[in-house]
Amino acid sequence: MCRATHRREDVEGIKKMKITAINGSPRGLNSTTNIMIEEFLSGAREAGAQTENIILCEKKIQDCLGCFSCWSKTPGKCVIKDDMAELFEMIMSSDITVFASPVYVGGVTGIMKNFIDRLLPATDPHLKMDRDGIARHVNQHENHPGMVVISNCGFPDPDCFKYFRSIFSFIDSQGGLKLLAEIYLSEGPLLQVNDQGLSTIIQIYRSLLRKAGGEVVKNQAISTKTQIELEKPLIPYDLYIEMGNKYWNEKKQAKTNEHA
Ligand SMILES: Cc1cc2nc3c(=O)[nH]c(=O)nc-3n(C[C@H](O)[C@H](O)[C@H](O)COP(=O)(O)O)c2cc1C
Repeated sequence: MCRATHRREDVEGIKKMKITAINGSPRGLNSTTNIMIEEFLSGAREAGAQTENIILCEKKIQDCLGCFSCWSKTPGKCVIKDDMAELFEMIMSSDITVFASPVYVGGVTGIMKNFIDRLLPATDPHLKMDRDGIARHVNQHENHPGMVVISNCGFPDPDCFKYFRSIFSFIDSQGGLKLLAEIYLSEGPLLQVNDQGLSTIIQIYRSLLRKAGGEVVKNQAISTKTQIELEKPLIPYDLYIEMGNKYWNEKKQAKTNEHA
């Protein structure tokens, strides 16, 4: 049973699961990340969830100071006064948090990394040894939310998400946020391409995201069938590389023509 079920909010007599998405793309509402989040949340709402999408680049979130006051002087609370206090409460009162970020140099974006660092007050400084003999933090909050990860990247190779996977599996291994599902889209910029030939492919992928959102609400997981479909490349690698190179050549040419 998912820990998340304890925090469902009673709205008009109906128990609703609360899902908060964090969009960590610096491109905010114009990002591919946002398209992915919105489709996922739409499927989640259809399945009965209550959802919110936070655009991180519109918030003021400073770097973690590394002072560990949240582990000693002000247990469970960060001493920095910025927008993180409100977001922290939102996350902790959610059933599921969606961490969504494009791949930047293999990992999450800078703003998403700051956000993750600032979740430190949710952990307890004490360590314990797990069954495999690996040291882990002891839980501070009993009912941490579940976690869904959404990402897209510019390269066609799904291997680009390997560091991403390891960051979120590390977070999961600390016993706090439980990793429920991961959605990784290589060839991400294609979702924004306005091309008749691609429209069916894009519509199918978008509907898979909605399906995934519904499945996570119902089962706290994405079914193997949906996951396999989500992981198929949108178009063959060689075609993607050809399209990408043509796009950048045309963009550079347009700039040259502007100055001619
Ligand atoms: C600074 C920077 C670093 C990037 N690093 C990678 C990378 O390591 N691997 C990759 O596949 N794409 C990389 N990209 C491309 C983005 O992941 C890609 O453009 C993505 O579609 C942007 O998503 P968004 O619209 O949601 O922000 C990088 C882009 C930027 C601006």
